[in-house]
Amino acid sequence: MFIIKLGGSVITKKSKQECFRQNVMDNLAEEINKAGKEVILVHGAGSFGHILAKQYELNGGYKNNSQIKGFSLTHAMVQKLDSLVLNSLNDHGVPAVSIAPHSILKLDNHNLYEMNYKIFEDYLDKHFTPVTFGDVALDKKLGFSICSGDLLVKALAEHFKPEKAIFVLDEDGLYTSNPKTDENAEFIDSITPEKLKRLTTSLDDHADVTQGMKGKINTISELAGSGIDTVLLNGNKRERLYKTLIGEKTKITIVRGGKR
Ligand code: IPE
Repeated sequence: MFIIKLGGSVITKKSKQECFRQNVMDNLAEEINKAGKEVILVHGAGSFGHILAKQYELNGGYKNNSQIKGFSLTHAMVQKLDSLVLNSLNDHGVPAVSIAPHSILKLDNHNLYEMNYKIFEDYLDKHFTPVTFGDVALDKKLGFSICSGDLLVKALAEHFKPEKAIFVLDEDGLYTSNPKTDENAEFIDSITPEKLKRLTTSLDDHADVTQGMKGKINTISELAGSGIDTVLLNGNKRERLYKTLIGEKTKITIVRGGKR
């Protein structure tokens, strides 16, 4: 089985509120269906979540009553995005079922405190494709905070031990430095989790509420460190997700799991 995270910057235009990239999502849905593999899908919030979450400072936890409205609005927006993702998947033959994180987990100071994995198992047993997403969630210490899609991938991958965890991005993968600002940046095909930890440069300088690329690199090195092969690939380029799912060579960065 595979755990796939569709990054918010691929399925939405991150700088423009509520801008869904329907074509990109449709292509990815078609590729997931064509590959015919068992999959748990996680998607990011992109412009449907980050803009409001930042405006209401939701990731810092509860501070005042106006944030209650912000929590609710943010949640409604990510649910809206989730419906668009579900429709696209269903239209392309993927029997998707949405599992909202806020109702199956609790955080504690941004870390996972408890989560219901059984619901994913039950749907997988019945050949559904469970879909979950970056969301607002209750937090034992902070009242509430943000549960990123990356955190969900990590938790699900550690539980389900997939063949690969795949991060679908709007970049080809990892570079030795930021390719947008450094013309000498070199593409990395394959890297160990130890080397990845030392890679201090990032693909993406903008800091979003869930730490952008820096947070992602930390999550990926932890994932790979626990033995799970982790792939980064470009979701805007046709067939890369499909080829990775069926085991064909294509342009990706692979972070080899530590236990090999
Ligand atoms: C963020 O989820 C969730 C909210 C802001 C509510 P992610 O961190 O997984 O989203 P992307 O992939 O960066 O857009």
